[in-house]
Amino acid sequence: MTVHQDSPMTSASDQSAFPGTAKTYAPYADALQAAAQRDSLFLSTPGHGGTTTGISAGQAEFFGEHTLSLDIPPLFDGIDLGVDTPKDEALQLAAEAWGARRTWFLTNGSSQGNRMAALAIGTLGTGVVTQRSAHSSFIDGIVLAGLNPGFVSPNVDEVNGIAHGVTPDSLRHAIAAHPEKVSAVYLVTPSYFGAVADVRALAEVAHEAGAALIIDAAWGAHFGFHPDLPESPVTLGADIVIMSTHKLAGSFTQSALLHLGDTEFANRLEPALARAFMMTASTSENAHLMASIDIARRDLVNSRVAITDSLENIRQIRARIEGSEHYHLLSGDFMNHADVVDIDPFRLPIDITSTGLDGHAVRKRLTEEFDIFAEMATATTIVALIGIGKSPDLSRLFDALDQMRLEHENDRPADAMTASAGLPALPSPGKLVALPRGAYFADSELVPAAEAVGRTSVSSLAAYPPGIPNVLPGEEITAETVEFLQAVAASPSGHVRGGVDPKLSTFRVLKD
Ligand SMILES: Cc1ncc(COP(=O)(O)O)c(C=O)c1O
Repeated sequence: MTVHQDSPMTSASDQSAFPGTAKTYAPYADALQAAAQRDSLFLSTPGHGGTTTGISAGQAEFFGEHTLSLDIPPLFDGIDLGVDTPKDEALQLAAEAWGARRTWFLTNGSSQGNRMAALAIGTLGTGVVTQRSAHSSFIDGIVLAGLNPGFVSPNVDEVNGIAHGVTPDSLRHAIAAHPEKVSAVYLVTPSYFGAVADVRALAEVAHEAGAALIIDAAWGAHFGFHPDLPESPVTLGADIVIMSTHKLAGSFTQSALLHLGDTEFANRLEPALARAFMMTASTSENAHLMASIDIARRDLVNSRVAITDSLENIRQIRARIEGSEHYHLLSGDFMNHADVVDIDPFRLPIDITSTGLDGHAVRKRLTEEFDIFAEMATATTIVALIGIGKSPDLSRLFDALDQMRLEHENDRPADAMTASAGLPALPSPGKLVALPRGAYFADSELVPAAEAVGRTSVSSLAAYPPGIPNVLPGEEITAETVEFLQAVAASPSGHVRGGVDPKLSTFRVLKD
C-alpha cells in the first residue's frame, strides 16, 4: 500500500494494513532515531549536518548533539521517501487512534489546520457559517479562500468575559439566515475554558443543511483517550477536526493534527485537504515536530492509567478549590449553559476576584513574583492547564493567591469581591460591510484611533490571549471595540494581534 501526505489513507476501520501496529512504538520517531545513529556524511541540508563542528558548534552546545542529529530533512530514505514508509505508518496510526479516515501531521500548529480547512471547504462553495469567537487563523483562512462568512454567536458570560460554545438551534438559525448557500460550518470546541459543545447534534444540523462541519478542537487532542474524558470529535460526525497536540497532549510547540472524518463529505474533502496541506506546509517540515506528534500518539494510546491517576489528582484539586471560601471554579456553572454538554477536567478556570485584583494582574504577578505560568486570564479568572497524566502540586499556586489576597484584605472596599477591575466589557462585533478578502486586498490608509470609528477595518485584530478576533477585515470598527482593544494593549499581559502599533493608537482602514 502506498500512503503519502497527499494520497489516500486506508480507513480507520482497516487496521490490518500495517500488521502488528503495536501501541508501544512510534514508527516515524523510531526511524528518525535509527537514521540519527548512523555515521552518515551529510553533504546536504541541513547545513549543520548533524555534527558539532563549524557553524553548528553553538547549536550543539545549546541543544545537544542528539537534537542536531535528529534534525533530518524530508524525503529521507527509510523515513518518508517512497512507499509504505515509517511516516506513512505513523500517519495511519494517528488516524486510527483518533478515529479518522485520514490524518495529517502539521508543523505550523492548528493555525495551519484552520487555514487548510478554509481552503479545502472553498472547493465546496463560498458560503460558510463560523462561530464568531473563531481563532484568528480561521479568519485568515476565510481571507485566503475568499469565503463569505455568516456568524453564529457563542453564548457569552459577560461578567467573566468568557465565550462558550454554540447550540444546535443557534447554528440552525445562523445557517438559515445566511444569504448564500452554506457549504460548511466552523465551530470551536472545547472552548478556551474547557466547555465542550454537542458535536454530534451540531454535525446533524450542519449535514441536514448540506454543509460540512469543521471542528476546531485545538484544545481537545486528548479527547477520546479515556472513558472519563469527552469523546474525540472525529468520532462524533465532524468532517474535519483540527487539534493542537502541543496544547495538552505533550508534543512540542507548533505540532498539531488535522483529521478527516469518515463522513459523507470525505471523498470531496480529501483531495482538497491534500492540496491545502501542500499550500500551507513548508517543504522542509521539521522532523522533531513530527516525531513529537508520533510519540504523543503512542503515549496517549498508552496513557489510560496515567490519565486515571491525574484525573484523580484533578478531582482532589477541584474539591479543594470548591471547598475553599475564597476561590471557585467557573466550570462548575458551565453545565447550566445550553451549549455545554461536557467539561474538560484538565482546564481549571479559577475565579480569583477574592484577591481584589483582576485576572490579568494576578497572572502577571504569578509570573514575575512566583515563577508560576497560568495559561490565560480574564478580568475575573485565571485558567490553569494541567498536562495529560500530570499531577502537579497546586499548593504553590494557592499559596501565591493567598499571599496576594491577604496583602490588601483590610484596605479593600466591600464590593471588591465582585468588581471586575481592568478591562471594559467584551464588545459586540461591528457590522460586516465588505467581504473579508475584498477588504484585505483593497486600498487602505492609516488613521488615528478616534477617526477609525465607523470605518471599515482591513485587518483582523485579536486580543491575546485567547486570540479571538474582535475585528475582522470588512467589519466596521466601533467605539467600544477601540476602547476594548486599547485597554487590552495597555493591560499587563495583553497583546493585540494584527495591531499597527503596540498601543493601538492607529488603525488601518479601507480608503474612503
Ligand atoms: C481554538 C484555537 N484554534 C486554533 C489555535 C491555533 O493553534 P496553534 O497555536 O497550534 O497554531 C488556537 C491557539 O490558541 C486556539 O485556541
